[in-house]
Amino acid sequence: MKTMLRGKDWIETKDWSKEELETVLEVSKYLKIKFALGEEHRLLQDKTLFMMFFEQSTRTRNSTEAAMTQLGGHAHDLTPDKMQISHGETPKDTGQVLSRYGHGIAIRNCFYGIGNKYIKEVAEYASIPVINLQCDVDHPCQSIADLMTIREKFGENTRGLKFVISWTYAPAYARPLSVPQGLIWLMPRFGMDVVLAYPKEFYLMPHTVEWAKRFAEENKVKFEIVHDMDEAFRDADVLYPKSWGCHQYLFDQGVPEEEKKKLGMDLLNKYKDWVCTERRMKLAKKHAIYMHPLPADRGYEVEDAVIDGPQSVVFDQAENRLHTVKAILALTMGGRP
Ligand code: CP
Repeated sequence: MKTMLRGKDWIETKDWSKEELETVLEVSKYLKIKFALGEEHRLLQDKTLFMMFFEQSTRTRNSTEAAMTQLGGHAHDLTPDKMQISHGETPKDTGQVLSRYGHGIAIRNCFYGIGNKYIKEVAEYASIPVINLQCDVDHPCQSIADLMTIREKFGENTRGLKFVISWTYAPAYARPLSVPQGLIWLMPRFGMDVVLAYPKEFYLMPHTVEWAKRFAEENKVKFEIVHDMDEAFRDADVLYPKSWGCHQYLFDQGVPEEEKKKLGMDLLNKYKDWVCTERRMKLAKKHAIYMHPLPADRGYEVEDAVIDGPQSVVFDQAENRLHTVKAILALTMGGRP
């Protein structure tokens, strides 16, 4: 077990070895048990985390703030309008200044082509750990909680499970690509055969797919891309249908910013039948679980009967966001030097 993680940034899971990720999972389980027993675990007493949210959040904001409170520290809930970021202060200066005041910086910035770079620039100049609370490339706090949930349902040996991440229709807004990208990076490293399904315009950032192929090859598992939701669902163990935007497609076509919204909606409306239905769930194995990071666009992405049904583990996933982020914070902001 690798335990010397103090000061390490949590930006992309691919920067963490499998052994280090196992430590996060072990500590998450330990802290989940402590929480269940009502036992104190004030591992970050008097420590401060600065949380900067460039977008809305229910799960990430509240699990991270609750984690800091329960670990005995405090989290500042910041948005760009509360900071000089809104007047153009650079990530370099923000990172250096916050490092003089506290013990960790956590950032959500999902702007396409911007978020990941922003977080990495803060990290380059910060002398305290930087935690990615979701960017345009990865959502590592989500994927590690998802892995914990899968292990709770199927046991710790996940080799051979068929994991399906499928695009779904959702008219509300164009979601980032970081959840599917984070999942295709992490699940092959834990032995799962991954199927990625989407209508052809909704492809992911090419470099993330290249990394997924590399992880699949290194771990001797399958990684397959299909453009048919039924085909993907057949004989699956884990179903993870969720929507994402066609950001890279519009970017590759050189569509101007002001036209992107309309063109994105037109494309989306071509694929209204990409819904997770009870019929589709029956194509998977009987013991298959339904996952979603939430918020779900109920009635569009998924039928209520599925998300509220016996195969759904969405609230277990949401719960595990607390235990896993607690482990990440305790190991990187506290822990061994
Ligand atoms: N799953 C997730 O990241 O949810 P929030 O956007 O509510 O944080």
